[in-house]
Amino acid sequence: MPNLRQIALIVGSLRQDAYSKKIAAFLRANAPANWQITEIEINDLPLYNQDYDDDPIESYERVRGQLSVVDAVLFISPEHNRSIPAALKNVIDIASRPAGKSVWTGKKTAVITSSPGTFGGLSAGLHLRQVLQLLSAQVLVAPEVYLSRITDSLDEQGNLSDERTQTFLRRFIQTFDDWLA
Ligand SMILES: Cc1cc2nc3c(=O)[nH]c(=O)nc-3n(C[C@H](O)[C@H](O)[C@H](O)COP(=O)(O)O)c2cc1C
Repeated sequence: MPNLRQIALIVGSLRQDAYSKKIAAFLRANAPANWQITEIEINDLPLYNQDYDDDPIESYERVRGQLSVVDAVLFISPEHNRSIPAALKNVIDIASRPAGKSVWTGKKTAVITSSPGTFGGLSAGLHLRQVLQLLSAQVLVAPEVYLSRITDSLDEQGNLSDERTQTFLRRFIQTFDDWLA
């Protein structure tokens, strides 16, 4: 058995039936056996407030703790108004503080975006990469994953059933895993 890899999964959608969650389910089901995946809950996080830096609240401490111990963070997100959903930006901000204690410094990360539309969440993906680079995270450069027309890749039960998309995502998993080695 190769070395265990601790991977945090952050889904950038709060929507119960989110397409991003279907993609996350596919990735979990197709992850190598040595990946230990922790899904990071972001829907209970109050908006980041610097006033809490000296007296942090429990949910901030929870995500900071979870993210600080993992080998890598995998983002799966939709695009909101051509950028990163607010809930996703919020957890990134929370985990970047207090100053000097950012969990992102040197952290290996990868980005997947999707959309029912033509552009696959491209703008959100690029914005997310820009934010992560500013925070001195390492970001997997290629393959870039912007899944367009995501509804065409899902069957009626919401399983990611399209073979081309499956093959592409399996290749992504392999590349990410090689990069983490
Ligand atoms: C506030 C809001 C803004 C949106 N902006 C975009 C956008 O800029 N680009 C896009 O492709 N889709 C946009 N959409 C549509 C989303 O792609 C669609 O709601 C999708 O289902 C969100 O992904 P999810 O299912 O993972 O939540 C937007 C949706 C919402 C609610």
